[in-house]
Amino acid sequence: MKTIPEREKPVKGGIILKQTKLLQSGKVKSVFETDDIGRLIVEFRDDITAFDGGKKDTLKGKGSCNAAVSSFFFQLLEKQGIKTHFIGMLDDTRMEVRRLSMIPLEVIVRNYAAGSLVRNYPFKEGQKLHPPLVVLDYKDDSRHDPMINDEIIAALGIATPRELETIKETALLVNRHLSAFLAGQGITLVDFKLEFGKAGKTIYLGDEISMDSMRLWDKKTKESLDKDVYRFDRGDVMEVYARVLHRISSGGNYP
Ligand code: CDP
Repeated sequence: MKTIPEREKPVKGGIILKQTKLLQSGKVKSVFETDDIGRLIVEFRDDITAFDGGKKDTLKGKGSCNAAVSSFFFQLLEKQGIKTHFIGMLDDTRMEVRRLSMIPLEVIVRNYAAGSLVRNYPFKEGQKLHPPLVVLDYKDDSRHDPMINDEIIAALGIATPRELETIKETALLVNRHLSAFLAGQGITLVDFKLEFGKAGKTIYLGDEISMDSMRLWDKKTKESLDKDVYRFDRGDVMEVYARVLHRISSGGNYP
């Protein structure tokens, strides 16, 4: 009988990946190398942090909840032709992704004023921003992720003007799809943060898309359905995260 080599054994629509060494352990996710040079595994841990890591906790089930939401959104965006690093879920908390060389930018799209925008500028909380704003932060915890602009990005060689244009256009496209989908579930997408990376010359959406990186308000009650619940002790954050996952995954087909 012909034996199938370990790496070629089929699993759910893919190939078994062997997780090898830990590449990076972030605040809430760990990234592992695999026996395939072009693929990584992102593990969503049960940790939650806020205020640059100043507040930390471990909440059972948080990793699988955020992994499920991220996986759902990456697949929704892929269906709309947006290139993401998502390949598939290996189990509840581990996502198989394309290996990217990450661009150290936090790309924030804002539909309504909240958070640092209200703290730093004379916007009113909840004020509609039309058109939506794309704000770029330089990703560097030791510098507290300072805001950056196109000129500084070019001077530092972080991205070319062309790449930056692609990143901003993609972020606005992601905003259009996520806002429309969430509106259908009675949820307002206030703002969110994306990260991008490159494989060769192609730019892909990377990182995660979850309640940790989005600000979501219930359309009717204006209740926070995101990490603000944890940041400002507004209730049981796991109950809220689980509720969002339920509302999202019962959302049917999009568009
Ligand atoms: O949320 P905060 O006041 O710290 O910062 P913000 O600039 O108002 O954040 C805008 C959006 O990006 C929020 O949905 C944040 O959760 C998200 N964000 C993030 O996920 N990670 C960061 N390092 C900064 C912002």
